[in-house]
Amino acid sequence: MICASISMDLLSILSILLSLATLVYSQNFDVTKYGATGDGKSDDSQAFIKAWKDVCGSTSKNPTLIIPEGKTYLLNPIKFEGPCKSAVAVQIGGNIVAPSNSEPVWKETESKRWIAFSNVKGLEVSAKGKLDARGADWWRTCPDMKGCNRPTTLEFGGCSSFRVHGLTSVNSGRNHISISGCNQGTLSSITLIAPNESPNTDGFDIASSENIEILDSNIGTGDDCIAINNYSSYINITGVACGPGHGISVGSLGINGEEAKVEEIHVKNCSFIGTDNGARIKTWQGGKGYASKISFEEIEVTNSSNPIIIDQYYCPHSVCDNQTSAVTISDVTFRGIRGTVRGENAINLHCSEKAACTNILVEDINLNSLVPDKKAYSSCTNAYGRSSRSTPPIECLLKQQLKSFFFWHW
Ligand SMILES: *[C@@H]1O[C@H](CO)[C@@H](O)[C@H](O)[C@H]1NC(C)=O
Ligand SMILES: *[C@@H]1O[C@H](CO)[C@@H](O)[C@H](O)[C@H]1NC(C)=O
Ligand SMILES: *[C@@H]1O[C@H](CO)[C@@H](O)[C@H](O)[C@H]1NC(C)=O
Ligand SMILES: *[C@@H]1O[C@H](CO)[C@@H](O)[C@H](O)[C@H]1NC(C)=O
Ligand SMILES: *[C@@H]1O[C@H](CO)[C@@H](O)[C@H](O)[C@H]1NC(C)=O
Repeated sequence: MICASISMDLLSILSILLSLATLVYSQNFDVTKYGATGDGKSDDSQAFIKAWKDVCGSTSKNPTLIIPEGKTYLLNPIKFEGPCKSAVAVQIGGNIVAPSNSEPVWKETESKRWIAFSNVKGLEVSAKGKLDARGADWWRTCPDMKGCNRPTTLEFGGCSSFRVHGLTSVNSGRNHISISGCNQGTLSSITLIAPNESPNTDGFDIASSENIEILDSNIGTGDDCIAINNYSSYINITGVACGPGHGISVGSLGINGEEAKVEEIHVKNCSFIGTDNGARIKTWQGGKGYASKISFEEIEVTNSSNPIIIDQYYCPHSVCDNQTSAVTISDVTFRGIRGTVRGENAINLHCSEKAACTNILVEDINLNSLVPDKKAYSSCTNAYGRSSRSTPPIECLLKQQLKSFFFWHW
């Protein structure tokens, strides 16, 4: 009797000591300790979810989900949900692969994404390994994205104060990274790769988010390197090399009469190499709202078609009727954009009659044809503003400057 009670006491003291130790020291939650095999074949999703539950529920300082190096983890569509008790970190050491697109899990899932972080505050992802969504089968079997769950590789939804560093994504099914409904994010040293001809493989898609920075990243993919969509503001893109791909785009905005509110978008010190389009703003006819306070500066262009383009008649796949409204475009600066153009169009300001582009500033542009004896041209309709030191010159803006000069000096 006495003996038993003593051993009980010892046990409970021990267990208290152990949980104290856990509180103080055990901030790391290693997925392999939760049963992840990392053999690239067995489904490791359950182990990741269990480990995430503990990380997210931990009250220690900076609890960290560890995904050890030197292994490849197979994950089904998976959602890491917050809110969490503390600011959590995720260290992606190893590689992560998706199940083949013929696996039934893709039919069971409702959503079109592979890995999602949802409603997490203070998330810090650092990665050495790469995410491979095995997109090639998706591109082949579901090119128009209809009737299938072609997935986004990585989604941040409703996240705030988050950082992502060093991540690589290859062969995404749909876009590589989507940022939606987020505030205060910094994503740096990110590498996103898919073939030139892979359909809809945008690099970053940003929507309904603010205060997002994308820094020092390398994107070569089949669609927009970065697309900034509606209800986004205070987005800075700096030091991004884009190509192949469709450039860095604001839009497309205003599809099906939708409203857009996009402002304070600043793209700086980037390069476009072999891209279709480059610094681009695209809006559909019939939309509402505005895109304003947008700048593209210090951009090096090599062998790109349409490196500077505003298109208020965006309509890539069919014929669209012209409408009486459009998303207005104002206060846009293109400055310090230099290099070589494939084809004839260097600058294309194609603005709508009903909602013109206003206060467009184009300066320090030097864009020349890749072919030595050929010229590159600009074209311009319904754009208002001014330009200086631009090769090729932008006649419609120069005419306006001449007119206002005579107006003021008469
Ligand atoms: C525009 O934003 C609204 C509200 O956030 C969203 O429901 C809609 O899907 C967005 N449209 C596009 C084209 O992103
Ligand atoms: C974003 O870019 C703008 C314009 O270049 C700059 O004024 C602003 O400070 C930048 N914001 C951040 C957070 O870097
Ligand atoms: C411009 O971006 C490149 C990376 O693409 C970086 O190495 C360089 O330091 C940046 N320069 C400035 C002035 O920010
Ligand atoms: C320019 O880009 C096109 C299309 O990507 C490519 O076929 C061509 O080889 C490139 N030319 C040069 C000189 O890099
Ligand atoms: C809409 O207007 C633009 C610019 O005036 C023109 O190029 C285009 O052909 C028109 N589209 C239709 C379908 O009328």
